[in-house]
Amino acid sequence: MSSLLGIDDPGVDWSGARVLVRADLNVPLDGGRVTDDARIRASVPTLRYLLEAGAGVAVCSHLGRPKGERDPALSLAPAAARLGELMGRRVELLPDCVGDEVRDRVSSLGAGELVMLENLRFHPEEEKNDPAFAERLAQGYTHYVNDAFGAAHRAHASTEGVARRLPARAGLLLKREVEVLGGLLGSPSHPFVAVLGGSKVTDKLPLIRSLLERCDRVLIGGAMCFTFLVAQGEPVGTSLHEGPDGQAMARELMELAVRLNCALQLPVDVLIADRFDAEADLQVVPTDDIPDGWMGVDIGPRTAAAYREAIGAAGTVFWNGPMGPFEIPPFADGTVAVADAMAGSDATTVVGGGDSGAAVARFGMADRYTHVSTGGGAALEMLEGRTLPGVAALPTA
Ligand code: 3PG
Repeated sequence: MSSLLGIDDPGVDWSGARVLVRADLNVPLDGGRVTDDARIRASVPTLRYLLEAGAGVAVCSHLGRPKGERDPALSLAPAAARLGELMGRRVELLPDCVGDEVRDRVSSLGAGELVMLENLRFHPEEEKNDPAFAERLAQGYTHYVNDAFGAAHRAHASTEGVARRLPARAGLLLKREVEVLGGLLGSPSHPFVAVLGGSKVTDKLPLIRSLLERCDRVLIGGAMCFTFLVAQGEPVGTSLHEGPDGQAMARELMELAVRLNCALQLPVDVLIADRFDAEADLQVVPTDDIPDGWMGVDIGPRTAAAYREAIGAAGTVFWNGPMGPFEIPPFADGTVAVADAMAGSDATTVVGGGDSGAAVARFGMADRYTHVSTGGGAALEMLEGRTLPGVAALPTA
């Protein structure tokens, strides 16, 4: 299988190069402060590598969904400040990502100089992958590096168009993401166990299908388990669950699992609450005995023990989606149990981005896995077996 050409592969002398680096700095903000800097941290090794090799670097990203309008609340200024702290240097934020002023500034980038461009999505042409915009974005640089794995499923000017206009390479993060997630699709060590949570079966249908084909066991938690239970005719009280379409999909997946000889495992017990509140009354009940007026908010302890055992016996574990709304401490035990079992396992352990990535960061366990993906949608699309346009545009060896 061909592999992506990375910045550390031979063939490019970075000394004196002026490099446009596409990173995914789409981070959560609260009152102008970055509340989870995992993606900014993950982009540092590539930036350091290029700067130490003598390149001048302009890093660019999108932030949020400003719909092609300039929105001061979605300026990358907080990301520039946080990147500066992490790199121990000031990171100058240019007022835009294209235009004469930006082109003049980046054309004179000196060796070891680092600047950040303003939010790409302030221009509607970015998301349209407009060729003229991609051309303007490329102006002034000698090379392009894509390290934005989290945005690689978007065919935008900065992820796809510009890669075809400059000599391109994969950044260290993007290359590792593709290698690790690609490895799950290629030849994972068995037993291969997937743990899936989150709220909707309908959102994850292609992912679950793909995993049923590849895994020996798929463990279900989160609100989506109630759609499976309703589909089996169980009462679920006021638990979040989907209607007829979601239930039909759940039935289809249960039948597919039988045909593929994959164990699709549902919770046997569940933590229920009389209301969605940290102060709610709680009890643990078997999943076939959820009373009227109560809602499931986490997997129960017998389920957590069974899931721990399956994870402990695995050669590879992939996890996407929490077991319940873990942000509320009394509802977090099941999610902690999965995170902890994976952290203590000798298996290859991969945590999908999005909510599960946020969970392991919150529990302080993010460095205890083989890999925590920075991609939410991108990681899932890759595991569905789809081609990511931002990856397909990069050269391979
Ligand atoms: C993400 O947060 O998943 C990526 O940054 C992509 O963002 P988008 O869904 O707004 O394209």
